[in-house]
Amino acid sequence: MKVVTKITELKQFVQQAKKEQKSIGLVPTMGYLHDGHLTLARTAKANNDVVIMSIFVNPTQFGPNEDFESYPRDLPRDTELAQSAGVDLIFAPSVEEMYPADSGIKLLAGRQATILCGASRPGHFDGVVQVVAKLFHLAEPTRAYFGQKDAQQVAIIETMVRDFNFPLEITTIPIVREEDGLAKSSRNVYLTEQERAEAPAIYVALNLAKAHFLQTKNAGEAIALAEKHIAENTAGRLDYLQLLSYPDLATITARTEKFLLATAVYIGNTRLIDNLIFSLE
Ligand code: PAJ
Repeated sequence: MKVVTKITELKQFVQQAKKEQKSIGLVPTMGYLHDGHLTLARTAKANNDVVIMSIFVNPTQFGPNEDFESYPRDLPRDTELAQSAGVDLIFAPSVEEMYPADSGIKLLAGRQATILCGASRPGHFDGVVQVVAKLFHLAEPTRAYFGQKDAQQVAIIETMVRDFNFPLEITTIPIVREEDGLAKSSRNVYLTEQERAEAPAIYVALNLAKAHFLQTKNAGEAIALAEKHIAENTAGRLDYLQLLSYPDLATITARTEKFLLATAVYIGNTRLIDNLIFSLE
């Protein structure tokens, strides 16, 4: 496995793979890898000749008071883990390599980015589509891999791919969880012991709401039930908890077939997100 930091080195690898008519799987990450990222890499490896993983903590998707500086980073550890998951090339550029100058030209994520995480993190998804569009151009993947953990991110990237005709396929994998149900996240390392013990209540709350909604079709009651569970079982502060249609992220109607039940909760200073996607049974 190779680790490169320069765009020219990445392009060389991509050109060689293209010459050999190899399919390329791309796994974009911000590093500090856990089993969610590694499952993406293993899935990519099973379905492509070569796998490129990008590791880049992208400053343009962080707000001014967010955790860009403190976001956990450990490239030597990530390198070992990525290799064990079958990654062929890690692209780990510096901020200057990715953004040598501010040209002032931006991509703006649309309506799907105005709600949920987009409402509490203004500009976040503009930064995500900016970096993902660049990575798509640089790595020229046959397929790109994303986790359902960030369901809104996937929906927005799928829209970008469709609307801007990126010649690639998006594959999504289910959320990888700890044994107690907490969704794996690089940010889980921020949690104190007490907070870590409370955090699984988020997944329990989502499941309570889903079960109640499927039984009663009463979204208001279902959401209230989940909010109550989080309030009673954590010291956390709810950012949002919403039931929307998926993947369009619109208000649900009697005709909605696929649902996204999504939440963001501040446990102490750590913002955790989780969701369930389900259909009427
Ligand atoms: P990051 O948070 O590092 O996540 C990289 C990928 O791993 C995303 O597709 C995310 O959904 C997936 N992922 C994270 N935790 C997961 C889990 N528990 N189960 C399944 N998949 C999981 O998302 C980003 O980085 C960035 O926004 C990025 C797309 C790289 C653009 O900068």
